[in-house]
Amino acid sequence: MAATAKNKKLRVAVLASGGGSNLQCLLDRFPPGDDSPAPAQVVLVVSDRPGAGALERAARAGVHGEVVSPSEFAAAELFGARLLELFAQERIGLVVLAGYLKLVPPNVVARYSNRMINIHPALLPSFGGKGMYGSRVHEAVLRFGAKLSGPTVHFVNEHYDRGPVIAQRAVPVYFEDSAGQLAARVLEQEHELLPEVVDLIATGRVEVSGERVRIIRD
Ligand code: GRF
Repeated sequence: MAATAKNKKLRVAVLASGGGSNLQCLLDRFPPGDDSPAPAQVVLVVSDRPGAGALERAARAGVHGEVVSPSEFAAAELFGARLLELFAQERIGLVVLAGYLKLVPPNVVARYSNRMINIHPALLPSFGGKGMYGSRVHEAVLRFGAKLSGPTVHFVNEHYDRGPVIAQRAVPVYFEDSAGQLAARVLEQEHELLPEVVDLIATGRVEVSGERVRIIRD
């Protein structure tokens, strides 16, 4: 079962390597503080890249931003320990990977089992895995000739783009599409799907049973 606090806002950390348009959607829907009626609030943004647009978005929203790069640490375990330290400081209940390109260390995956989600811009298990990010994903979809693509949100385990699927959205792939055009069509759906899933988790409507996820709708 995922985090289900009923009367307390779910405290969310977002890990992002890039521009952070998905992060922005989360900041807009789940702003920090108690003023909004949202069931969650983004309170921490962590990037592995000092220049990441995601950190600027965090600063603009008044959210604690940190740079934590795996290359600063002698071992994955130490990198994970630093992330866990930040998550503990901010009392994080849910970790969201939104355009995060690094593998999350096993000690973090273990501690945040079924409390860490990732968004991938294709319909997993296809077109995912190590090295499948950015335009590579969409190029692979076009090369294969798939007629449908779309975002997947899933719980994170110790493998890239694996773990129980929570939600997916299908978008059409057109013969004339460039990777950029397809990416834009998928991203539009990502911007709706990711906040929707965070809301479902924050309101206790996501249940995990082994590899399968049940969404409880009213
Ligand atoms: C998105 O397509 C996301 O699915 C992928 O990386 C992209 C990040 O976009 N993992 P942004 O940084 O949120 O704008």
